[in-house]
Amino acid sequence: MEKKKFYITTPIYYPSDKLHIGHTYCTVATDAMARYKRLTGCDVMFLTGTDEHGQKIEDKAKAAGKTPKEFLDEIVEGPRGILDLWKLMNISNDRFIRTTDDYHVASIQKIFRRMYDKGDIYLGKYEGWYCVPDETFWPENKLTEDHICPDCGRPLQRVSEEAYFFKMSKYANRWLDFVEANPNFIQPESRRNEMIQFVKKGLEDLCVSRTSFSWGVPVPFDTKHVVYVWFDALSNYLTAAGILDDKEKFKKFWPADVHLVGKEIVRFHSIIWPIMLMSLGIELPKKVYGHGWLIVDGEKMSKSRGNVIYAEDLARHFGVDAVRYYSLHEMPFAQDGTITYETFISRFNSELANTLGNLVNRTVAMINKYFDGVIGSPDNAGEFDDELKGTAMRAIEKVNEKMKTFHIADSIDEIYKVVNRANKYIDET
Ligand code: MSP
Repeated sequence: MEKKKFYITTPIYYPSDKLHIGHTYCTVATDAMARYKRLTGCDVMFLTGTDEHGQKIEDKAKAAGKTPKEFLDEIVEGPRGILDLWKLMNISNDRFIRTTDDYHVASIQKIFRRMYDKGDIYLGKYEGWYCVPDETFWPENKLTEDHICPDCGRPLQRVSEEAYFFKMSKYANRWLDFVEANPNFIQPESRRNEMIQFVKKGLEDLCVSRTSFSWGVPVPFDTKHVVYVWFDALSNYLTAAGILDDKEKFKKFWPADVHLVGKEIVRFHSIIWPIMLMSLGIELPKKVYGHGWLIVDGEKMSKSRGNVIYAEDLARHFGVDAVRYYSLHEMPFAQDGTITYETFISRFNSELANTLGNLVNRTVAMINKYFDGVIGSPDNAGEFDDELKGTAMRAIEKVNEKMKTFHIADSIDEIYKVVNRANKYIDET
């Protein structure tokens, strides 16, 4: 029988700064899901990558006195770059896409043209504001007088330029019908409701090209424009699956089973992206799951606050598995998770060193002491064995149930019930 396929993605990261533990969480969570699906027998494609075009990258490269490509190559492929980080963290991705890859660029141009030929993209003028760090347009009517980004609170730039627009508004009702008919498309529920409210307020057409800088994919029929970086980035899920260059693979893996993303970019993935696909006549992904943020002392990590924690530093002190364990365990299904060195140390000591470490140590010590280091076949099941076995069997069922709905932290709790019961078993016997 052919294996069931499972196509899972992380967002593609901006290589404008060093990635921190929040980004690492997102990739580790996707990795945990991909590994789980492989264990259950699925043929998995796990995709991650980097989002390499746009004004932010162009500005950063300029400030570093490098060409964008030189700047990017170092951050992505250089020593202690993003590829090295995922290697260190034991990430089992099957593909890594860079949006500067030729096959991706060629596909974006095709996609843009197809939507233009269909009449869904038209030329106009953009007058409004732009958040460079988030690469997001903010029309006047969405803003207060101070012209601060409603998402990230940083100052916006005034933009007035000729631009191509995508007729999002045309698809609003179709989107609402789709989301209604597919209640699990956006998860968790709270974010689904937010998105529905957003669309019900009215969808504006989206600006999908820029002319005031050049680091991007040129619009094929009007090369003074570059394609808007989110339009380019979202399409990575199609291009890496082989829409242009590997039809077999594309047929097998598309639609994506889940896009795992952070909460602030659920809007891009659950509204803009499906509408782009509707325009292209391509099947929609099955699910967008928006996780919370890992926050430090109640605040989002940022360089200016000086509270950024890096996975590499934690791994150096505690080991890679502890970092993976902590970040997965600490992120609840729908809310934010917290990270501090203090809570890390306390979880490390109590759950890993104590509970799990003791179980392993005691088990290995007894195998050596009583069984000459050999694990024989089990016999003489006693009164305590059934209960231990029952706990383990229930855990399998529970973990399956929880993982199906992306409750990763809750799955860990189920596994820990077995660990705790096994420690008790040793005390009892
Ligand atoms: N390039 C876009 C994504 C394009 S996908 C077609 C982008 N990149 S990002 O590097 O800024 O963020 C990537 C992911 O990291 C997002 O899902 C974001 O939510 C996540 N995180 C960034 N900081 C985070 C935390 N502190 N905690 C958890 N996730 C965080 O957006």
